[in-house]
Amino acid sequence: MMKKLDIILKVFEYQSINELDEQDQVLVHQAIEAASDAYAPYSNFHVGAAVLLDNGVIIKGNNQENAAYPSGLCAERVALFAANAQYPDVPVVAMAIVAMKDGQLTDTAVTPCGACRQVMIETEVRFEHPIKVILYGKENILVVDSVRELLPLSFTSTKLKP
Ligand code: THU
Repeated sequence: MMKKLDIILKVFEYQSINELDEQDQVLVHQAIEAASDAYAPYSNFHVGAAVLLDNGVIIKGNNQENAAYPSGLCAERVALFAANAQYPDVPVVAMAIVAMKDGQLTDTAVTPCGACRQVMIETEVRFEHPIKVILYGKENILVVDSVRELLPLSFTSTKLKP
């Protein structure tokens, strides 16, 4: 018998950075620093990500573009891959993402692309630790307690098991 499943996603919305926890504010500031160092001469869309590890270390990443467009990579994956390369045994616990257009932070929250969400959920599953994600915009900040809220019905390693 066919059933309709309503999927409920838990997303917290804030209007200003001052409403965030101290640690989340620090992470947003680190992501802003990262965005200003992005290499995005083709899109002029400068994205920054800051990843907080369980040991307190923060790893920054930003988008790296290329004249051969598909060879570039998003800020989120640059940050996560760098974190996982340097600290393969330390869980990622939180991540902030920001974007700048024409040198100005966007008004609304940045929402990561599907490929980045896939890498984010892989990291969550890998370390068996939820990742709090802060999607920053000057007037609209979205926070989720797990990447699962950003990628329902996801494909993860459990699907590969017999
Ligand atoms: N980009 C990111 O780095 N992260 C996102 O969440 C969205 C898109 C980058 C890819 C490309 O360098 C530029 O932004 C425009 O798509």
